[in-house]
Amino acid sequence: MKLGTLFFWPLPALLVWLCAWSLYLLPGLWLPEWVGLLAGGLLGSLAAGLGHNWWRRLLIASGFPLSWIVLWAGSLPTWSWLLLLGLLALVYPLNAWRDAPLYPTPQNALEGLAQIAPLPEGAAVLDAGCGLGHGLQALRAQYPQARLHGLEWSWPLRWMCAVRCPWAQVRRADIWLADWSGYAMVYLFQRPESMGRAAVKAVTELAPGAWVVSLDFQLPGLEPHWHRPGPGRHGLWVYRLPPKDCSA
Ligand SMILES: C[S@@+](CC[C@H](N)C(=O)[O-])C[C@H]1O[C@@H](n2cnc3c(N)ncnc32)[C@H](O)[C@@H]1O
Repeated sequence: MKLGTLFFWPLPALLVWLCAWSLYLLPGLWLPEWVGLLAGGLLGSLAAGLGHNWWRRLLIASGFPLSWIVLWAGSLPTWSWLLLLGLLALVYPLNAWRDAPLYPTPQNALEGLAQIAPLPEGAAVLDAGCGLGHGLQALRAQYPQARLHGLEWSWPLRWMCAVRCPWAQVRRADIWLADWSGYAMVYLFQRPESMGRAAVKAVTELAPGAWVVSLDFQLPGLEPHWHRPGPGRHGLWVYRLPPKDCSA
């Protein structure tokens, strides 16, 4: 049994933040401030596993450093806020927000996909908006023989993804401007609002028989080949492009 299940949310987060602040304040009486800061930050990161999902883990880990930054920022000059905003814009350029911010594919979200959508050895598979590479890792677990590609608009994320997934070809590109025609499968974990655009692009560019796999969000106007309903688990929508109609 996970220790986190002993407490109702958000109790684990509150306890971890309290302990992190105590760690920060107590040694501060006789040790340099940075030691307490490091200790509090480390505790938050180590205790993040108490959260049952990605958001909770993030909240547990980031509570102490974020509250510290907010307090500390009161004494910051105005230009440093611009610097912080600049850094944020670097990690999250605006058009990446318009589609979907970073939210990684959970490890087992694509379990069983290879049986539902089999691919020949060496098939090219694209994670459109690959973030830090969690989707690519889940795809690799399903298709170890595939050639995996990732496109990501944020260049720091693109860079980190390339480091985490050295077996994949990761490029910085806009998924809507990139050509999808060479891929046997396109994997999407974006936003519901982007699904119409994705459906049009898939139908226009992908070859007959190619697959589109979307985590959580349905593509309007396309008949799914297979669908795993949420909630409880992430919903998965699997589409197969029909043969081209030659009679027209
Ligand atoms: C929900 S995350 C999914 C990340 C990854 N596919 C995964 O499943 O772990 C969406 C990602 O798409 C990226 N993104 C959003 N719009 C994009 C665009 N137009 N071109 C390229 N990447 C984009 C975001 O920066 C973010 O990293």
